[in-house]
Amino acid sequence: MKTLLHYFFLLCLSILLPAVHNQCIKDQQQSLLHLKKSLQFDQPSPLISWNSSTDCCSWVGVTCTSNGHVVGLDLSNKTISGPIPGSFANFSNLRVLNLSSNTISGTVPGFFANFSNLRELDLRGNNISGPIPGFFANFSNLKLLDLSENHIRGKIPHWIWSSNQLSTLNLSCNDLVALEAPLPNSTVETVDLHSNQLQGQIPTFLPSAKYLDYSRNNFISIPLNIGDFLTKTLFFSLSSNNLHGLIPASICKASNLQILNLSNNSLSGMIPQCLTAMRDLNVLNLARNNLTGSISNVEVTEDLQILEIGGNQLGGKVPKSLAKCTMLEVLNIGKNNITDSFPCLLKNISTLRVVILRSNNFYGGIECLNSNGTWPKLQIIDLAHNNFSGEIQGILWRTWREMMATENGSLSKIVVGSHTRRKFFGSTMTFSSPRSVNFCSRETYNQCLAAKSSYAKSSYAKSSDAYDSSYLEYGVSVTVTSKGLEMELVKIISIFTLIDFSSNNFSGPIPKEIGEFKSLRVLNLSGNAFIGEIPSSFSNMSVLESLDLSQNKLSGHIPPQLVELTFLSFLDLSYNQLVGRIPTSNQFSTFPPSSFTGNKGLWGFPLTVDNKAGFPPPPTVNGRPPNSGHHHEVNWDLISAEIGFIAGFGVAIGSLVLCKRWSKWYYRAMYNILLKIFPQLEERIGIHRKHVHINQR
Ligand SMILES: *[C@@H]1O[C@H](CO)[C@@H](O)[C@H](O)[C@H]1NC(C)=O
Ligand SMILES: *[C@@H]1O[C@H](CO)[C@@H](O)[C@H](O)[C@H]1NC(C)=O
Ligand SMILES: *[C@@H]1O[C@H](CO)[C@@H](O)[C@H](O)[C@H]1NC(C)=O
Ligand SMILES: *[C@@H]1O[C@H](CO)[C@@H](O)[C@H](O)[C@H]1NC(C)=O
Ligand SMILES: *[C@@H]1O[C@H](CO)[C@@H](O)[C@H](O)[C@H]1NC(C)=O
Ligand SMILES: *[C@@H]1O[C@H](CO)[C@@H](O)[C@H](O)[C@H]1NC(C)=O
Ligand SMILES: *[C@@H]1O[C@H](CO)[C@@H](O)[C@H](O)[C@H]1NC(C)=O
Ligand SMILES: *[C@@H]1O[C@H](CO)[C@@H](O)[C@H](O)[C@H]1NC(C)=O
Ligand SMILES: *[C@@H]1O[C@H](CO)[C@@H](O)[C@H](O)[C@H]1NC(C)=O
Ligand SMILES: *[C@@H]1O[C@H](CO)[C@@H](O)[C@H](O)[C@H]1NC(C)=O
Ligand SMILES: *[C@@H]1O[C@H](CO)[C@@H](O)[C@H](O)[C@H]1NC(C)=O
Ligand SMILES: *[C@@H]1O[C@H](CO)[C@@H](O)[C@H](O)[C@H]1NC(C)=O
Repeated sequence: MKTLLHYFFLLCLSILLPAVHNQCIKDQQQSLLHLKKSLQFDQPSPLISWNSSTDCCSWVGVTCTSNGHVVGLDLSNKTISGPIPGSFANFSNLRVLNLSSNTISGTVPGFFANFSNLRELDLRGNNISGPIPGFFANFSNLKLLDLSENHIRGKIPHWIWSSNQLSTLNLSCNDLVALEAPLPNSTVETVDLHSNQLQGQIPTFLPSAKYLDYSRNNFISIPLNIGDFLTKTLFFSLSSNNLHGLIPASICKASNLQILNLSNNSLSGMIPQCLTAMRDLNVLNLARNNLTGSISNVEVTEDLQILEIGGNQLGGKVPKSLAKCTMLEVLNIGKNNITDSFPCLLKNISTLRVVILRSNNFYGGIECLNSNGTWPKLQIIDLAHNNFSGEIQGILWRTWREMMATENGSLSKIVVGSHTRRKFFGSTMTFSSPRSVNFCSRETYNQCLAAKSSYAKSSYAKSSDAYDSSYLEYGVSVTVTSKGLEMELVKIISIFTLIDFSSNNFSGPIPKEIGEFKSLRVLNLSGNAFIGEIPSSFSNMSVLESLDLSQNKLSGHIPPQLVELTFLSFLDLSYNQLVGRIPTSNQFSTFPPSSFTGNKGLWGFPLTVDNKAGFPPPPTVNGRPPNSGHHHEVNWDLISAEIGFIAGFGVAIGSLVLCKRWSKWYYRAMYNILLKIFPQLEERIGIHRKHVHINQR
């Protein structure tokens, strides 16, 4: 109280006497210069402004009280390495200390025990080891503690939860193994424990929590009464644990939930009826579990913006109630057992960006005679591995404006919940910036190397579902802002556009209108019965990176204009009836012979007399042609090095960093998108590419 009055007095003083405002006192300046000297930097003098001829309160990263006492130090992202030096001990009045994004190692030093005035301590993204120091228990003013992305071990001490000021605790991306008992009632509001090794049942003791992230741990079960502890919760993620059993219906009591993610577990049984109907739910992700039952009669809330239930064993038809989701942006029902005709009811949802129906039993044409609806924002449509048939009319595609956009990477945003009744929470969902996602950027390198050997055998053939929900889970981006609290959760690659109609029974010619898709990156029409020539308008798809037309009945010459597709790095025209000479260009000469084999009349480089013609049709898998995986055999040793490099930048995309599944995700085209985003990789990947090609030969 006394100090409070003291500060209040000083505040008044500083208003009355602006002249003395913020004059750094001498001994503070010396302590700072002493500190500067004792810090190890990996780059020369990032603290140039720390210069004795100027007022130390004006130095970068320094915050003073009005009487010149240093109370805030922000040395984040200053290439500081080595242990935390003892010269910090002079600053025991600190209220805010930010050392995030350096490579500081060692443990939190003992003299930190004197920093009991700290309100915010941010050590995120360093190499700090050891357990959580016990003296933090004495930091009665601590509001924010961020130790994420370090190597903190052991248990999460129980006292941490009873700190009465603490509102944000981020311990994600460490090596924590348990929550120490007994768990007290706690008023912490933001709790992020993702990417540790926590086990057992999901704990329920945080009734005030608005944000709860338990993803990427080893939790095995959800208590039946979980909903009683989620009444204030807006964001709840249990994704990527080892959860078994049913989804407790009590979750529906969490009436404020905006984002619920239970994906990538082994949850079974039916989807509780109340769940999809939860009024304020904007994002529901149940993908990659073992859920069963028919979804034909599921009632969904009209507030849904993202619905992901792909990768389960759900049957029945596409629920009619989806028609009222007029704000739906992402629909993923791929990899289930849904038997239905093309869901024309979706045609009226003009907000859709991502539609994934792949690997189900959809049948029939994809035209909707009774609908005038359009999909002007569509970016990704994946209908692969179904029984769709019929011809595709060019007119059908005319309304997919986003794919025709000429500017790169539109910055359109999804605002989660803006339209709802909710007053206190507006969250923004961005389909734009390719940046770090909800995992650890440092987790990464070593784990990837360790995991490498077990994935070394995987080939692209096994990852034919490269664009299933595992891509999307980490692709979608959420920035959450509530009162004074801003959190970025997950991000997407906005510029990504894909059409995958592969392995169906589509027939007729490929409409020349496809050339209007000036923003399309990936086009896969393989394994159908398309006939006629490859339209020369293909060359208008100026950013196309991956083109697969293999295993159709295409005839005629390869249009010479195709050489104009300068971004094209994957091409497969094999097993058609193409004739004539393969166009020559620098780029075409980089494609392997397998891009062209199986076309009797085709000749020229890279085909040789040996592999020119007369190839038997490829073997089939389960009655379908195999994915053309043989083109993608890759030297995993080389790639994992790239992965580590990317991860080291703290920038990663999709499940790239999720070492466990990254091989599934790997896809040549995606790789090239990385190139666009991180042009600095060009050189390294260039080298790597060569190796891939050598491998293929
Ligand atoms: C400190 O900064 C001033 C002005 O920016 C400059 O003139 C002076 O040389 C600097 N002194 C040192 C010791 O770097
Ligand atoms: C620490 O600095 C980083 C930027 O370098 C910033 O994003 C973060 O919010 C800061 N932490 C605190 C507690 O202010
Ligand atoms: C760290 O600083 C570098 C350059 O100084 C900048 O490019 C990078 O974005 C910064 N990172 C963070 C997390 O602020
Ligand atoms: C504190 O700062 C003074 C200079 O003001 C310095 O002589 C002293 O060594 C510092 N103490 C520590 C523990 O670094
Ligand atoms: C904490 O501060 C007190 C007084 O300022 C000092 O005597 C003591 O040595 C400090 N403790 C540590 C561990 O630095
Ligand atoms: C992190 O710290 C450990 C020791 O605690 C050390 O062996 C390792 O090299 C450090 N890693 C980096 C990237 O500095
Ligand atoms: C907390 O502070 C009290 C009194 O200031 C002291 O006796 C106790 O040892 C401190 N606890 C820790 C863990 O530093
Ligand atoms: C916690 O830290 C991780 C890694 O630093 C970060 O990705 C995540 O967004 C943070 N969580 C919250 C709620 O801010
Ligand atoms: C938590 O709070 C509830 C009611 O508010 C109370 O019944 C219970 O005993 C408390 N538990 C602990 C461990 O303090
Ligand atoms: C999924 O459910 C089926 C029965 O419905 C069961 O046989 C199978 O073992 C389950 N798989 C997992 C991974 O739980
Ligand atoms: C898929 O659905 C069909 C009927 O629609 C059913 O006969 C079949 O058993 C289902 N398959 C699985 C694996 O559930
Ligand atoms: C489609 O549009 C036409 C005229 O624009 C209208 O007459 C017709 O009723 C519409 N059909 C549907 C199914 O909305």
